[in-house]
Amino acid sequence: MPIYNAIMQASAEMREWRHYLHAHPELGFEEHNTARFVAEKLKEFGIEVHQGFAGTGVVGVIRGKGNSKRMIGLRADMDALPILEASTHNHKSKKDGVMHACGHDGHTAMLLGAARYLAETRNFDGAVVLIFQPAEEGGGGGKVMLDEGLFDKFPVESVWGMHNWPGLDVGRVGIHHGAAMAAADVFDIRIEGRGGHAAMPHETADPIIAAGALIQGLQSVVSRRVNPLDAAVVSITQCHSGFTHNVIPSAATLQGSVRYFNTEIGKEIHQTIAEMTDEVAKAHRCKAECKWEIGYPPTTNDSEAANRAANTAAEVLGAGSVKMNPPPSMAAEDFAYMLKARPGAYIWLGAGHPQANATLHNPNYDFNDELLPLGASYWAALTERELALE
Ligand code: NI
Repeated sequence: MPIYNAIMQASAEMREWRHYLHAHPELGFEEHNTARFVAEKLKEFGIEVHQGFAGTGVVGVIRGKGNSKRMIGLRADMDALPILEASTHNHKSKKDGVMHACGHDGHTAMLLGAARYLAETRNFDGAVVLIFQPAEEGGGGGKVMLDEGLFDKFPVESVWGMHNWPGLDVGRVGIHHGAAMAAADVFDIRIEGRGGHAAMPHETADPIIAAGALIQGLQSVVSRRVNPLDAAVVSITQCHSGFTHNVIPSAATLQGSVRYFNTEIGKEIHQTIAEMTDEVAKAHRCKAECKWEIGYPPTTNDSEAANRAANTAAEVLGAGSVKMNPPPSMAAEDFAYMLKARPGAYIWLGAGHPQANATLHNPNYDFNDELLPLGASYWAALTERELALE
């Protein structure tokens, strides 16, 4: 079961779809034209289409040859990023300040390519649910689809994701037993002191000194509280206070980002930051509060599903194409919520080695079209293996 001939022959068409989507990018929850394009294609292929989940989400359902009630889900993301594209190729974004800088145009085209093949052949028993989600780049469109009952309406037994991965050779895939991507939360700390004259600091409670001590203190959360064999990040990314030379201000604020793979460690980090914020502020006669915005959880593969994904990839792309457990990424992924709801696996599809100024989220990035038949064949093979005919 190498790369499917029928899919290989459709490469040029998948490239056309991909270039169209690239030229017409849309931000999260605004993917109206993209959703229309996807729904039209699915209908053209004779696939049952459901629209409206999370606003612009599109779901296609293909039923196989047998009578099985089994169902699996395949997910692609459709949104673009608020970046001004720097490239000059023919399919350059027609919308200034919006571009497909993460390859979601390619992900959508690959799932459409697989959809057409699967609708034509139906060599499987059960149903495959094609999930085209909005707003992966923040906004959690996948989570919104779940909250709106996606898996109640389509009770899939497993769910599968894929992302193109620059830095990994074309024709190779990276698959993790466990976490592939990190959790990402953000915090806002507000320190309240007592302002006053810069010449009379003893009459104030200086929030800038408290903020300085806290910035230093928070550097020890990962280095002294987290097991060195576990990965985590605490980054302070904003620090604001004061307005002139001769006034000690009454408040200071700090903002930052926290990343981790293990939710227990995440809890420990949250608690340590909250305690430290409180204690350090008190030590400086200030009061402080830390507010959290909880982001995407870790994207964690089911080990069994990861093995099945690896076997499928090896069959499609050849033995030796699979790299098990490469170092996971500290970036986060909305697919995490689907993997919390159902077992499955999220794989990295090698996208080759673009220049450093043309990788993911860069204004020069462009999805590598060589991947289109590879990813579409992986989807087709995965469906035929997971829902194998008797
Ligand atoms: Ni992405």
